[in-house]
Amino acid sequence: MREYLEIEGGYPLRGEIPVSGAKNAVLPALAATLLAPGTYRFTNWPRLLDLCTMLELLERLGARVESRGEILEVDTSSVEGVEAPYELVRRMRASILVLGPLVARFGRARVALPGGCPIGKRPVDFHLRGLERLGARIEIRHGYILARAERGLSGAEIVFNVPSVTATENLLMAAVLARGRTEIRNAAREPEVVFLGEMLRAMGARIEGLGTDHIVVYGCSGLEPPREPLRIIPDRIEAGTYLMLPGITGGEITLLAAEPRHLETPILRLREAGLEIEAEGQRLYARARGPLAPLEIVTAPYPGFPTDLQAQIMVLMTQARGLSFITENLFEKRFQHVFELRRMGAEIDLDDRTAVVRGPVRLQGAEVEASDLRASACLVLAALGAEGISRIYGLEHLDRGYERMEAKLSALGARIVRKTHEERETLGPCGPGARG
Ligand code: EPZ
Repeated sequence: MREYLEIEGGYPLRGEIPVSGAKNAVLPALAATLLAPGTYRFTNWPRLLDLCTMLELLERLGARVESRGEILEVDTSSVEGVEAPYELVRRMRASILVLGPLVARFGRARVALPGGCPIGKRPVDFHLRGLERLGARIEIRHGYILARAERGLSGAEIVFNVPSVTATENLLMAAVLARGRTEIRNAAREPEVVFLGEMLRAMGARIEGLGTDHIVVYGCSGLEPPREPLRIIPDRIEAGTYLMLPGITGGEITLLAAEPRHLETPILRLREAGLEIEAEGQRLYARARGPLAPLEIVTAPYPGFPTDLQAQIMVLMTQARGLSFITENLFEKRFQHVFELRRMGAEIDLDDRTAVVRGPVRLQGAEVEASDLRASACLVLAALGAEGISRIYGLEHLDRGYERMEAKLSALGARIVRKTHEERETLGPCGPGARG
């Protein structure tokens, strides 16, 4: 049975929309619970498929997981396992975030090598070379990463060719238990990396340079779970996704529990396009203020324009007057959504890493298939602004990163409902058992 979203587009959206805790902050934070035995507590955690996968992985390793209303509790006192199996890693690449903590704490780890994904080949060489710099021995055997450091890890200087979010996070976690000083140069500066660093500090780690491209870690023993529950930071990509709505559907929305400081570049660019955006504390107000102007967008590591908002701003630019140019610099295949948007009437040409979007066009509702998480979000945006009915398949991608999306959008007046598609039994030569 396949679920799909059925959306009737063309209605201006109005009202308040709460922002959930950040997927890309809670995942490394959960991995960090492996660094020291004890009970960890989190609030504002998002109910997402990826979070469930990470919790399943922690339980496989021996952790006890419990949610008590607002509080998510993880007790890693009896963790002994050191293996992240293929079935979980293939479901979620971020499972690789347990590699650093497991090697640092137990001296060994066996983690399935993540494959590619719809947006690119997604290598993990920075993770593995960095752990080797810290003294781990790395082997790849039968599709698994085998990492060993029986005598523990030792501080080192690590340099990334380009900033990598999860590689910075993995090595940050490994370095806090390594003997001596570690420097990470060309480190990622994302707010989610800073959040992880602050959690490690709350556990007793000594870290300098969080939020810059040069992080220094002084390894120590005796880390403990933070004394207070940790509140997961707001999801800036979910917030940025919804902030674009008024430019696509008309109307006006207010985001609640957002963190405008994490969205400075996207807000600047949306204002340039002609959206009226006001930030007040943790509220973000957005309204379309007349015709939109085209933009030139180039994705870059934080604080540049996020690659995770590239598909979404492409939909917005179908409503702008003129030609927009969107260049994707991080992932070599992150334009899968272009082919589905074209089926909705969008006029988009691809030239290597740049998409040229001609607007404004009236998008038409259609049946479309999401290929990855942010592509699924962009198809929802397009359907909300399109004329007529759309059906969006591939919800397993959407549910990984957007909590209660249809409920949040319905509250703004969107005509959106989740349905199940009865798969008809195929008969004749392709029916069950027909091929013997
Ligand atoms: C993180 O992925 C995010 N995921 C991604 O969000 C996000 O798109 C990406 O950072 C970029 O911001 C999580 O945080 C769980 P990278 P990550 O390592 O860490 C190259 C979403 O939709 N690279 O920062 O895997 C890589 O090819 C997801 O929520 C290497 O060459 O991305 C890319 O060009 C999608 N070798 C660049 O670095 C490595 O070992 C940045 O990738 C690692 C990365």
